[in-house]
Amino acid sequence: MTTLAIETSCDETAVAILDDGGDILASEIATQIDLHRAYGGVVPEVASRNHLLKMRPVLTKALEKAEASLANIDLFAATAGPGLAGALLIGNTTAKSLALAQGKPFVAVNHLEGHLLSPFLGDPRGVRPSVALVVSGGHTLLIHLRAFGDYHLCGQTRDDAAGEAFDKVAKMLGLPYPGGPEIDREAQAGDPRAYDFPRSMLSHGNHDFSFSGLKTAVLYTLDKLDRPLEDCRPDLCASFQEAVVDVLITKTVRLARELGEPCVTVSGGVSCNRRLREAFQDRAQREGIHLLIAPPSLTTDNAAMIAYVAQLKAAHGQFSPLEEDVDPNLRLSSSH
Ligand code: KG4
Ligand code: ZN
Repeated sequence: MTTLAIETSCDETAVAILDDGGDILASEIATQIDLHRAYGGVVPEVASRNHLLKMRPVLTKALEKAEASLANIDLFAATAGPGLAGALLIGNTTAKSLALAQGKPFVAVNHLEGHLLSPFLGDPRGVRPSVALVVSGGHTLLIHLRAFGDYHLCGQTRDDAAGEAFDKVAKMLGLPYPGGPEIDREAQAGDPRAYDFPRSMLSHGNHDFSFSGLKTAVLYTLDKLDRPLEDCRPDLCASFQEAVVDVLITKTVRLARELGEPCVTVSGGVSCNRRLREAFQDRAQREGIHLLIAPPSLTTDNAAMIAYVAQLKAAHGQFSPLEEDVDPNLRLSSSH
């Protein structure tokens, strides 16, 4: 089914079109980052208004790129949550209106399921059992993915999400929003062993994470710097990043070992991080783990991952009524 999906859960207006075989014909993203940067974070109402402004041009561009017209689309989809209520409503209402006008079905998609399954997009073998690490701005989840729609949450963060920790620490270091890519860039010139930051909950038997202690440790270190911040920033970034990467990889690999699961997937905005990708690849190679990480273009928010899940749901007969509401707090649950 040729599928058109819309993603507007936060500050990206995204439209993607996938063909019958699941290949990406178009994946357009209009980011609002410059608009929100002045406020140091996303302002919900500004985001909603901008989705409204960007929706039509992004939609038109995606159709042009895919050389398709609305009449060629067999299935419409949109993110239903989690995310900002007003922002979600724009994408949702647009996709539902198009479905209604074209007389085609609609599928509501959980944003987290989009991230979770994004490493399988374009893989002819499809969704496979794995231990999945989802690391985004709002979530840090360790999931035993047993099959499409069969997800067991094994661990999550007790406080900040990994991306949130990147953003908050970047702010402390005087770097602009969003901080993840900034820390990634600064860290390239830094020494990851310059500062010995804590690896929280590494020795705990459970699979949960905590990043608030690490954030506080960076704050204390900043109070005691003996050189100007600008001089120390690359080392601070590299050391902070190393601590996050170390905990994420160690806990994911430990769960994979415990469950005897040979495949590990990593997804969400933080999986764009160069050090995380490189260190995970090294570790997977040493331990004989089959690692799947989505290409960088599919790690941060995009509509291709939403279209992919929509196709899988449609194939399982899981269509959504047009009356269905959005849910800003939608959780990831098994569909059977
Ligand atoms: O998945 P995503 O685009 O949106 C959410 O669903 O939250 O993730 C955004 C998060 C932000 O916190 C951002 O700082 C982080 O992903 N991020 C990164 C990198 N690129 C984006 N964190 C570390 N390194 C990066 N290269
Ligand atoms: Zn996301």
